Amino acid sequence: MSDLREVLARELTGARTRTLQLTDHDDPELLRQHTPLLSPLVWDLAHIGQQEELWLLRGGDSACPGLLPSGVEALYDAFRQPRAVRSRLPLLPPVEARAFCAEVRGRVLDRLDRFGADDDPFDVAMVASHEQQHDETMLQALNLRPGPPLLGAGAPLPPGRPGVAGGSVLVPGGEFVLGVDAADEPFSLDNERPAHVVDVPAFRIGRVPVTTAEFAAFVADGGYATPRWWSERGWAHRVEAGLVRPQFWGADGTRTRFGVVEALPPDEPVQHVTYFEAEAYAAWAGATGAVPPGARLPTEVEWEKAAVWDPSTGRRRRFPWGSAEPTPALANLGGAALRPAPVGAYPAGASAYGAEQLMGDVWEWTSSPFRPWPGFRPMRYADYSAPFFGGDHRVLRGGSWAVGPSILRPSFRNWDHPVRRQLFAGFRLAWPVEGSA
Ligand code: AVJ
Ligand code: FE
Repeated sequence: MSDLREVLARELTGARTRTLQLTDHDDPELLRQHTPLLSPLVWDLAHIGQQEELWLLRGGDSACPGLLPSGVEALYDAFRQPRAVRSRLPLLPPVEARAFCAEVRGRVLDRLDRFGADDDPFDVAMVASHEQQHDETMLQALNLRPGPPLLGAGAPLPPGRPGVAGGSVLVPGGEFVLGVDAADEPFSLDNERPAHVVDVPAFRIGRVPVTTAEFAAFVADGGYATPRWWSERGWAHRVEAGLVRPQFWGADGTRTRFGVVEALPPDEPVQHVTYFEAEAYAAWAGATGAVPPGARLPTEVEWEKAAVWDPSTGRRRRFPWGSAEPTPALANLGGAALRPAPVGAYPAGASAYGAEQLMGDVWEWTSSPFRPWPGFRPMRYADYSAPFFGGDHRVLRGGSWAVGPSILRPSFRNWDHPVRRQLFAGFRLAWPVEGSA
């Protein structure tokens, strides 16, 4: 038990180190809202503490009195306060938000010392995951901040390898185990469970995500002016939102990244595209001979099979490369790089089928709407997943460079509206295999 307590305390402390780094700015910086799509950082900060107090000190019962007056606590309820209005709320000032988070954390760590049969380690891990997920959201907000860089240029990354962009690997048809159970992955969230067998027809999938250079060819070929490549909804959105290239790209072959203006990096997975732009790229690439015909986005089920199934053992691997925990030699995670690594940077991270960079670098759009697996049961934080099932969302897989490594699993499911592009998201392609249907 004491080992587990240490693991959980380390999880919480690691998340908090990141949160405090990301919110170590002056008050005006924390109060600014850069887009109606994201909160001011001071909201994320106090919301992190509010959720931690709710799930770990009040047993999920918001009627049980907490440290904040109920009117103040209500300001941090994500369902009651749409993101667009959060900077106009009478939020706790940064100094009070930090003090609140520190008070909650002190009590949580005390409680962890006396951890007993009534305490569920899952809830602690879930709260640490929640905090890390908000850390990524805060990075999205900081990326949208105008003006000179606040975070520097990012930590170094390994070089890529030539010749991997545009390639694909074969995933033969057959059954595999989709999803996980608590017995294998005790900290998996509700939407990843339960494990169940599905039969997946053969397909090919990109060895690596689509690169910036590949996507730039679509832009240069008039992809944004050609309705034929776009779904009807995608085209309508493109026109209405005035999209002509990925977010943060200039017309002059540059991009802005956390305030740094730099040349488009040809070998880096493309980032900041909507689901609709990914779909249009696939149609264009498959029809113009840039890649074999029939290119499309993978389903999330295909993605997960390509990532974890080991056909030689007939079992799932814990990670694409095997059972070892992620390291900087296997995947770009944790947020320090502030960008994806070039394609081919992680040959040691390849899956059994040979697909690379499935974990880290960019979240990958899949064609799947967000739905429960059969046998889904909500966790205690019942509104984490269930309210979003059946909504207008697409699932993203694999995690970005900004995800904390300890919260990510190949079964981890992220989701967002198909029009969003502030995410650190790109995509990889998939193809049908002749005669497999
Ligand atoms: C799983 C990333 C879609 O940010 O909306 C944070 C995570 N849920 N607080 C989101 C989440 C509640 C969620 N995503
Ligand atoms: Fe939240």
